[in-house]
Amino acid sequence: MGFNFEKYINYKNFKTGLRKNLCGELKKDDIGSETVLCGWVNNRRDHGKLIFIDLRDFSGIIQLVFDPNIDKKPYDIAKKVRSEYVLRIKGKVRKRSEETINYDLKTGQIEIAVTDIEILDKSKTPPFMLNERDKVEETHRLKYRYIDLRTDQMQNNLRLRHVVISETRDFLSGKGFLEIDTPILAKSTPEGARDFLVPSRLNPGRFYALPQSPQLFKQILMFSGFDRCYQIAKCFRDEDLRADRQPEFTQIDLEMSFVKPEDVMGVIEGMLVSIFKKVLDIKIDRPFKKISWRESMENYGTDKPDLRFGLEINDISEIFINTDFKIFENVLKNKGVVKSIVVDDYEKFSRNELDNLIEIAKDCGAGGLVWMKGEKDKLDSPVSKFLKNEEKNALIKSLNLKDKNLLIIVADKFLKTCKTLGVIRNHLAKKLGLVRSGFELVWVDDFPLFEWDEKIGCLSPMHHPFTKPSENTLKFLEEDSLKVKSLAYDIVLNGEEIGGGSVRINDLKLQNKIFKMLNMNDKEIEENFGFFIKALEYGIPPHGGIALGLDRLVMILGGLSSIRDVIAFPKTQSAICMLTNSPSGVKKEQLDEVNIDLTLDK
Ligand code: AMO
Repeated sequence: MGFNFEKYINYKNFKTGLRKNLCGELKKDDIGSETVLCGWVNNRRDHGKLIFIDLRDFSGIIQLVFDPNIDKKPYDIAKKVRSEYVLRIKGKVRKRSEETINYDLKTGQIEIAVTDIEILDKSKTPPFMLNERDKVEETHRLKYRYIDLRTDQMQNNLRLRHVVISETRDFLSGKGFLEIDTPILAKSTPEGARDFLVPSRLNPGRFYALPQSPQLFKQILMFSGFDRCYQIAKCFRDEDLRADRQPEFTQIDLEMSFVKPEDVMGVIEGMLVSIFKKVLDIKIDRPFKKISWRESMENYGTDKPDLRFGLEINDISEIFINTDFKIFENVLKNKGVVKSIVVDDYEKFSRNELDNLIEIAKDCGAGGLVWMKGEKDKLDSPVSKFLKNEEKNALIKSLNLKDKNLLIIVADKFLKTCKTLGVIRNHLAKKLGLVRSGFELVWVDDFPLFEWDEKIGCLSPMHHPFTKPSENTLKFLEEDSLKVKSLAYDIVLNGEEIGGGSVRINDLKLQNKIFKMLNMNDKEIEENFGFFIKALEYGIPPHGGIALGLDRLVMILGGLSSIRDVIAFPKTQSAICMLTNSPSGVKKEQLDEVNIDLTLDK
């Protein structure tokens, strides 16, 4: 399994004025033919009487033999050649001797007896050898990205990315979507993350923002009657970075008119099915699984559940309704919950590991965690003495405990409890090796429209302010806003959110009301979204859409763990491009032109 780009190479296309074949193209059938090849020196082995060079291009590697008995001139030049020199050679394809056949190599049964060689360019000793990539620090690889990108892994990753993009384009064009791009110099609007700002020289004191996503433009294209459009969109968000987050990333962004959520989901399912088939030759069944946000939080402790393993979370609040155990009693009195995960074998957990679980729970903001060693007929725990026998028996019965079970319990407010156990669930699955190989896709829907932002003490949108509330919960908008659900949906692959979208508000009054509920006054609404509100006055079709994180999708399809491996020139964790050393300082004159006066040195 895995992506193999070879089947996408049409060798005929690569014949040029300088070469006849690609290095990975020649086979046993070509024995006896003359060839001209260009490529890099992957390595050179001087055996005295013979020199061997492995010549490499993107398609593969082929062995060259320089034999002074055939021709002394190329042999003498080959003596001077070093790793990563660029060569053009002429020669004859011949069978390797039986003992030198390399069955691991595509071209391992043949070699080229070289009759002519030209050094097209020399190379300094490379900063690292391509076959040692895995041992090289990532920052070093990123600094010399042009060398890193020569490796098989990076060539494969970026070809995989290309095939996903081209399949996306074919699929969406086939479904009637127009590819329309939207501005990169856009308007700063409060939509979630921090904006990257660009000062305007022609409009002193004013700034563009790089788009966090093309959200409003793609909606406006629906207002304009294009019915359905998409783009492979560059997005920019100034947020803290992780393995699955870059400040500059790419979305497959689409929008459709006159739709229900199922229509958008149907397009994405069709597209993902054909991408999986094309790149991995894997058949994905439709319809995809779908669970509500509430169910996802309850059972998996996250809105991006990894369904490749079990370890579901159980609600055990009922058992402790009349408990004397103070911690649980207080939590339940304050409308919190008690929840647990059951793990198979407590002998796999040292005291240190149990303490580590408590630390993880605390890092998640929970007060802590209670563990219990369970058997078919008894429970043993540091808190056993606080529990009534009927509580212990009820736990054994309702959780169907077996010998050597480990019970992990968290008690706190609903969301905190779920999220903490969600993190612990993922941790345990990795530790115990429970994560199945393969791909698990699931839709999560029925999200709350708002969440409560503790930091600023007001409502904030769970997705974005343009998401439509679901009809049947609209009645709670005024008096119990957190109860309002939305027509939003996320698509999750192997526990990673690879996309999110929604049906949008197409009603001026409702949109205004939502902005106000998000703590914006009339002036702020006008300044930030005046253009959008105005557009909503002119006959707006019901519409909805979604954006898939292309980098995340390609990362998972490639079996990789960082999106930096599927982006040609990514930034580091501290948002630096190691190759160009950006961001960098600029000249005072450049700042003067845009009326910016730095206060850093003052
Ligand atoms: P959202 O913000 O959920 O939705 O983004 C959509 C998808 O983009 C990916 N993603 C990222 N990938 C890499 N680095 C990042 N910093 C990053 N941030 C997001 C994720 C995510 O699921 N306008 C809406 C879409 C819509 O409603 O149509 C939006 O941008 O995979």
